[in-house]
Amino acid sequence: MMNDELEVLLTEDKIKERVKELAQKISKDFAGEPLLVVGILKGAFIFMADLVRNLEMPVVIDFMDVSSYGYSTESSGEVRIMKDLEVPIEGKNVLIVEDIVDTGLTLQYIVSILKKRHPKSLRICAFLDKPSRRKTDVVPDYCGFVIPDKFVVGYGLDCAERYRNLPWVAVLKQQD
Ligand code: IMP
Ligand code: MG
Repeated sequence: MMNDELEVLLTEDKIKERVKELAQKISKDFAGEPLLVVGILKGAFIFMADLVRNLEMPVVIDFMDVSSYGYSTESSGEVRIMKDLEVPIEGKNVLIVEDIVDTGLTLQYIVSILKKRHPKSLRICAFLDKPSRRKTDVVPDYCGFVIPDKFVVGYGLDCAERYRNLPWVAVLKQQD
């Protein structure tokens, strides 16, 4: 871990600019209608904090924490809810905010659960997208950046809980 090498992929300025653009698009699409923003813990917390501060409609915030069964770095598709939402979503416009869509298995599960609660609309906003690794047909409605198949950290994303606080995104090259 001491020899981790970080290579900057997205600078703080680039992220800031893109998050503003996304928020403008979302604000326009919902045309002033209230929005329930659901952050997926923990990875989405920084992106969500920046995103919601740029939204123009009335916003309510809630969080979900889900965890994949199994030990591998790749999600197994079997997901359990560690923390559920506190507010009902029936009849509401819901925006799921996620750090990164990789295989898409986590989001596929979350979407299937939330759909059963009959929201008025359900959309996904992902900070990053790695479409090359997709195992599902999940497509984020809003996406910050499409990135190559590299393991990245920073701006909420971690490696074994480290690096979430980096203000930029880096490719992590682990050396042993
Ligand atoms: P999925 O179910 O395979 O789409 O997994 C998505 C989750 O895997 C994300 O919410 C992240 O927690 C984690 N993840 C996937 N790729 C990366 C990465 O490059 N860096 C850090 N976490 C990642
Ligand atoms: Mg995550």
